[in-house]
Amino acid sequence: MKLLVCGGAGYVGSHCVRRLLAGGHEVVVFDNLCAGHREAVPASAGFVEGDLADADLLRRTLDGGGFDGALHFAAFLNVGESVNVPLKYYRNNVANTLNLLEALEASGVRRIVFSSTCAVYGEPPEMPIREDLPKNPINPYGTTKLAVEWMLRDACAAWGLGAVALRYFNAAGASADGVIGEDHDPEIHLIPLVLQVALGQREKIFIFGTDYPTPDGTCIRDYVHVEDLAEAHLRAIEGVAPGRFEAFNVGTGRGNSVREIIAAAREVTGHAIPAEETDRRPGDPPMLYAAPDKIGARFDWAPRYTEVRETIATAWAWHRANPRGFGK
Ligand code: UFG
Repeated sequence: MKLLVCGGAGYVGSHCVRRLLAGGHEVVVFDNLCAGHREAVPASAGFVEGDLADADLLRRTLDGGGFDGALHFAAFLNVGESVNVPLKYYRNNVANTLNLLEALEASGVRRIVFSSTCAVYGEPPEMPIREDLPKNPINPYGTTKLAVEWMLRDACAAWGLGAVALRYFNAAGASADGVIGEDHDPEIHLIPLVLQVALGQREKIFIFGTDYPTPDGTCIRDYVHVEDLAEAHLRAIEGVAPGRFEAFNVGTGRGNSVREIIAAAREVTGHAIPAEETDRRPGDPPMLYAAPDKIGARFDWAPRYTEVRETIATAWAWHRANPRGFGK
């Protein structure tokens, strides 16, 4: 297939681009490089530097381009910022996705895979999280992702779009061959921050909250390897059902606490990684981990990385080889 990958220069997007190419697909990346890295896009992929706000450029790219489908990763993802500047998130994550859907409709593209998030569930009433649990996002980031799911659902019903929303849990790790990895600026995610301590770029890691109702008092998350996410996208875009909207959790089904992540990173890096306990970060649910059975049944997908230590090891290999990230 010929596939447009919006946000294909970003962390999850770039790992997916490599998997799609390896699967024999033709890929054109559409990315404004506000968070993505040109260096993360393989030379064998086409590249359009553009913003989804630019509806004309989208139309020019899609019209007559012979595309069979699209994957959409382009979004802002800083939960804390989304609380303070919500309209920035609605503009980019929702309004710009509307541009994309209109351009897909106009150009006859009827297949899309969308990056959604476990943040659509907010603070779920039970664990593990199944797809049919209530969707009650507790921050604008999660709300914007849920709003896009609704747009997709309605477009599927109206004009025959087939859409899959993949609700990721915590994306982690780097490509096993060490070629690409995670490089956010600013970095806000636990595993890369911990590894920056091991690299000597930070003095210590702050543990946000030690009084959660969890066995060791720190938050529990489901860290899913980015190459497992990439495999899920490949299977989803190949298996999209025409005219249907489907949503799937993509996680390992296992949770690890913040303390467990730090301990695993100490083992992997051999560094002491000093940690300081501090207050809770607002808006953090105590525990989030997936029931990944639905995607297993539908796309025969299962995570290859089930030990978070191995996931951290791939991230560490990349960070150690690229201590300043891409192109620096
Ligand atoms: N944490 C710390 N110290 C840090 C950073 C994080 O203790 O310096 C803790 C957090 O409080 C949280 C856990 O580590 O309990 C993981 O935090 P991340 O920021 O790495 O990731 P989140 O769980 O906050 O991820 C959320 C949603 C995802 C979403 C992502 C977008 O769960 O669905 O934000 O940034 F995609």
